[in-house]
Amino acid sequence: MDQSVTGSYDVARIRADFPALAMKVYGKPLVYLDNAASAQKPKVVLDRIQRAYTEEYANVHRGLHYLANAATEAYENARETVRAFLGAARSEEIIFTRNATEAVNLVAYTFGRDRIKQPGDEIVLSIMEHHSNIVPWNFLRERHGAVIKWAPIDEDGNFLLEEFEKLLTPRTKMVALTHMSNALGTVVPVKEAVRLAHARGIPVLVDGAQGAVHLDVDVQDIDCDFYVCTGHKLYGPTGIGALYGKHAHLAAMRPFNGGGEMIREVFEDRVTYGDPPHRFEAGTPPIVQAIGLGAALDYINGIGKARIRAHETELVRYAHDRLGEINSLRIIGKARDKGAIVSFEMKGAHPHDVATVIDRAGVAVRAGTHCVMPLLARYGVNATCRASFGLYNTREEVDALASALIKAQSVFA
Ligand SMILES: Cc1ncc(COP(=O)(O)O)c(C=O)c1O
Repeated sequence: MDQSVTGSYDVARIRADFPALAMKVYGKPLVYLDNAASAQKPKVVLDRIQRAYTEEYANVHRGLHYLANAATEAYENARETVRAFLGAARSEEIIFTRNATEAVNLVAYTFGRDRIKQPGDEIVLSIMEHHSNIVPWNFLRERHGAVIKWAPIDEDGNFLLEEFEKLLTPRTKMVALTHMSNALGTVVPVKEAVRLAHARGIPVLVDGAQGAVHLDVDVQDIDCDFYVCTGHKLYGPTGIGALYGKHAHLAAMRPFNGGGEMIREVFEDRVTYGDPPHRFEAGTPPIVQAIGLGAALDYINGIGKARIRAHETELVRYAHDRLGEINSLRIIGKARDKGAIVSFEMKGAHPHDVATVIDRAGVAVRAGTHCVMPLLARYGVNATCRASFGLYNTREEVDALASALIKAQSVFA
């Protein structure tokens, strides 16, 4: 670990930016380790939302008055911020959605539906996919006879690139892979996977719901066709996500939802559609949520993705060490390249019970299926506990998690 990187990482100062982190629960300091589900919000985001509603609020795009212009400018500035954050070439390549889930559905219903035409057409997913990146493709399986193939992982959770390559056939019409597993933390070598798929003319969607939070993202370098992310995990508001799509794809894709804002002209007998991104943003968009997301990304950039990654890598290593000392725990997912997520189970205890017991010590973790049922089946478990870290977590919080788990052991012994 390069100490010069972490040495200047002032986590106490960062924590002071997040009002929720000062909370006590059950009289104990909150230890918030549920960031993979959703992250807390810094005051700059909350303030930006307040300002957008009080000083810049009107509907966007169609107005000719001061506030409509102010709102439109703020909304389109947020699009530009997302573009830069993901490394896209053009802001028209960024479509605002409700969340990552809606972004995957958009691609499956439009681009996917137009490519997956014949029964037997194949879609390759990894076994680590979140249900959000399975179920929209399952619709194509149910409705159009597509076949889903699953790229495997090894016991430690490493993505097996060679096995993935073997699944790519002339029938493969689409690949959709997570950038980082929400349950194991595994980082998927998406750039290499894209290269292998593109060598066979197969487009790739990358689910960046976790990757965009924890990893450096450059969609032009990855060369993926689509990349999705979701605002609430990026320290931004709920109700906002983003889809990146290569412009040539978006320009050729038919619309997803229909309504106002996405049309060029509507006649009694026909409708013509607007250009991307507006073609895919029907109705009043999540204006303030997008502005809030822009503020959240500015906040992340202000700290620096590389420094955040270094801090989180150190935390997850420490968490592995501390939890590894607890005999009753089995850690699931020890991939070589791993983000700040630790899944585990405790011998003799249901994960829900473990989470409930440590909650009384103020430690918030998630327990359940984490929307990755095929992955849990791969490990032969029904549920796990998951501690997931963010840019504001500390070694002391890892210690608090370990102490709470040691105490919990005695409850279940
Ligand atoms: C890897 C991954 N993909 C997709 C999603 C879905 O995100 P959202 O619920 O914001 O659409 C999540 C959320 O947990 C996730 O972790």
